Amino acid sequence: MPMWLGIDVGTGGSRALLVDDRGAVLAGFTAPHEDMTMARPLWAEQRPENWWDAVVAAIRGVLAESGVKGAAIRGIGLSGQMHGLVILDDAGQVIRPSLIWCDQRSQQQVDFVNAKVGREKILEYTANPVLTGFTLPKLLWVRDHEPANFARVRKMLLPKDYVRFRLTGEFCSEVSDASGTSVFDVVRRRWSWEMMDALGLDRSILPACYESSEITGRITAQVAELTGLAAGTPVVGGGGDQASSAVGNGIVEEGVVSCTIGTSGVVFAHMEKVAYDPAGRVHTFCHAVRDKWHVMGVTQGAGLSLQWMRNQLCPGVSYDALTAEAAQSPTGAHGLFWLPYLMGERTPHLDATIRGGWIGMTAKHTRADLIRAVIEGVSYSQRDCLEIVEGLGVAVASVRASGGGAKSEFWRGLLASILNKRVVTLETQEGSAYGAALLALAGTGAYASVPEVCRAAIRETASVEPNRGDAAFYGKAHRIYQSLYPALKPACDAIALLG
Ligand code: XUL
Repeated sequence: MPMWLGIDVGTGGSRALLVDDRGAVLAGFTAPHEDMTMARPLWAEQRPENWWDAVVAAIRGVLAESGVKGAAIRGIGLSGQMHGLVILDDAGQVIRPSLIWCDQRSQQQVDFVNAKVGREKILEYTANPVLTGFTLPKLLWVRDHEPANFARVRKMLLPKDYVRFRLTGEFCSEVSDASGTSVFDVVRRRWSWEMMDALGLDRSILPACYESSEITGRITAQVAELTGLAAGTPVVGGGGDQASSAVGNGIVEEGVVSCTIGTSGVVFAHMEKVAYDPAGRVHTFCHAVRDKWHVMGVTQGAGLSLQWMRNQLCPGVSYDALTAEAAQSPTGAHGLFWLPYLMGERTPHLDATIRGGWIGMTAKHTRADLIRAVIEGVSYSQRDCLEIVEGLGVAVASVRASGGGAKSEFWRGLLASILNKRVVTLETQEGSAYGAALLALAGTGAYASVPEVCRAAIRETASVEPNRGDAAFYGKAHRIYQSLYPALKPACDAIALLG
């Protein structure tokens, strides 16, 4: 039986997923990554070589568990955490660990680019403001702080594209992930030579760029030996994890929006034509669907908030036990609010220095309140994202929930009331790796287009409506949540100066 393989290089781990020609999932295998290294607050690094080892383990794992032979795989799609900087020398060796998507050290470099190129030109060239999370300011941080490393740079790749290089020997990217680099012209779907030239950067460090469902290379003989895949198997462009996850959630036409609660939290909408938020609070990127775009709002610390809380305050407790405990606390957690700014915030604040925490704590509060407040705070932040997306004229009939957070029935119910939308779950909740596999199905000719494969493979199963009373309460509480950021901003700026 012919199969297709989706590989997602996430933050916590890499996942390999096998699907058949109708998009039914046959087997999946996840290999964990090393924890990110945080040498200072708001710095975050991972080793690309570790992603590669995890991808090899995931491929071997899924083949071993399913008993599928590499020769049965007709195509491979890649997905990955976005924005990370991977720099290679002239021997194709990684020069230093990757500054990953949530690393926030590059505010000075963002200020430099704004001053040098000008905010209006940046918007004209790339359709988005430059943000600390994006790739370009990370490269400039290396130039400013590690000149010897910078001098050795021959190629700049994104995380999944480094894995593609190891799989195929090709330096390639694709439009959805490239959109988050700040050196990509999102409207014209090509690298922004204007940005590169304005900053005096060498154009040749950028890889070739394809549409997400185009074939970018083939598995090498050496990798075939290592993994059990067949040499020559085509690898399609794939997508950044959010665009891939959107394909896996069927967000490939207007009207349905997704909310993905992974380490980050993302509200994602498909767009037929480019539109941007003039304040740049949400990103306008190329979609993994040919000649289409998407808009997305990002909460930096979504699942990360709950993971942090678990690791620090309830080590060893399972997420199911945490959400069961949260359910003991009433709506609004006795007036306790969580600000999920553990890695600064993107939507709506675009602020690398804001800090998180609980506000409103009293001696009455219990651990159940703390957990519930975390889940509510992350969901308020997702509502901020949704409101801006709707403000761009995107009609939102329902929200498709995915990611680790959406596995919890409790969180889905709470999300429905906080977003005040019907929250829908899908038969396959495999997210980014699934989307990557569907891109491979479309890219190797099994289907004529990405929307066509989505129509064949994706089905809604359950849905939850907002609870009217809770929705009214959360409408008011969300406004209080929104008032906390401006109140705390001056204090957080002062804290940042302490170092
Ligand atoms: C999207 C983003 C995150 C990362 C990690 O802009 O930064 O979703 O891709 O998941």
